[in-house]
Amino acid sequence: MSSIPQIKLNDGTNIPAVGFGTYKLNGREGVKSIISAIHNGYRLLDSAFNYENEGAVGEAVRQCGISRDQLRITSKLPGRRHQYDQALLTIEESLYRAQLDYYDIYLIHWPNPITGKYLEAWEALVEAKKRGMIKSIGVSNFLPEHLDCIIKETGVTPSINQVELHPYFSQAKQRAYDKKLGIVTEAWSPLGRANDLLTHPILKEIAKNYHKSVGQLILRWHVQLGVVPIPKATSDQRQKENLDIFDFDITTEDMQKIDALSKPDGRLKGQDPSKYEEF
Ligand SMILES: NC(=O)c1ccc[n+]([C@@H]2O[C@H](COP(=O)([O-])OP(=O)(O)OC[C@H]3O[C@@H](n4cnc5c(N)ncnc54)[C@H](OP(=O)(O)O)[C@@H]3O)[C@@H](O)[C@H]2O)c1
Repeated sequence: MSSIPQIKLNDGTNIPAVGFGTYKLNGREGVKSIISAIHNGYRLLDSAFNYENEGAVGEAVRQCGISRDQLRITSKLPGRRHQYDQALLTIEESLYRAQLDYYDIYLIHWPNPITGKYLEAWEALVEAKKRGMIKSIGVSNFLPEHLDCIIKETGVTPSINQVELHPYFSQAKQRAYDKKLGIVTEAWSPLGRANDLLTHPILKEIAKNYHKSVGQLILRWHVQLGVVPIPKATSDQRQKENLDIFDFDITTEDMQKIDALSKPDGRLKGQDPSKYEEF
């Protein structure tokens, strides 16, 4: 298997071109899966306060035998903790839960624009970085107007924007906006959470020509778009499969066929960040 290329962030640090999602990987079984992912080559791990598995991620980090500085551990601030002091306390609590000295990456999980406190949350992330609790700071599910607001008010540009992105919802406009600002786009639910994308006839046909699975084709499509996908997979075999995507190139024509599957209402659960709020 070829090694994972690195992507440079606007703060000078690097992340691997593919990461590992950990939503629903909890407890002892979760720790086992996360250790297996690390042994299979994943170095970027995605977690969140709200997944209640920062403990499992921290335990896997301690047990895996790979040195801490080789790993890039992410967590996220929940919507109910955007108020400045609460946000700083929550980041401290996140660190205690994982028993880590620092997070490599910390994101605001959702902007919750109706509640309207995401600027305070961003100020807290900026402060937590100054205090050494976090190396890189970013956001998740932020639309252009939310990015504009925090950058204008603080002068600090996020390094990452993690958004829903898969062939049914390719986020062309948001990707272009992130790129213009020098923000790396990460893709959540990159495999559409294993919905009918994985059996889509067009994707099956294209994948067959490259002797790859549909999952591999989709993840390679992300990489060629310049997006960092963070697929979650429980089994050793799928974890390996999802990383085995650096030995082929999708042609421009096939990329366009995959792009054409995107629909304006293609979000998995209609979670439009201008209206949807998660706490
Ligand atoms: N920022 C946010 O708001 C947000 C929202 C949602 C998710 N996330 C993050 O993004 C990560 C990934 O998204 P996700 O977990 O929603 O969905 P996903 O990664 O698109 O899909 C995961 C599902 O696909 C299956 N799968 C994985 N590889 C496969 C393969 N090669 N062939 C067939 N099936 C395969 C997995 O099954 P098994 O596990 O059974 O192997 C699981 O059911 C999450 O884990 C989380 O870290 C962030």
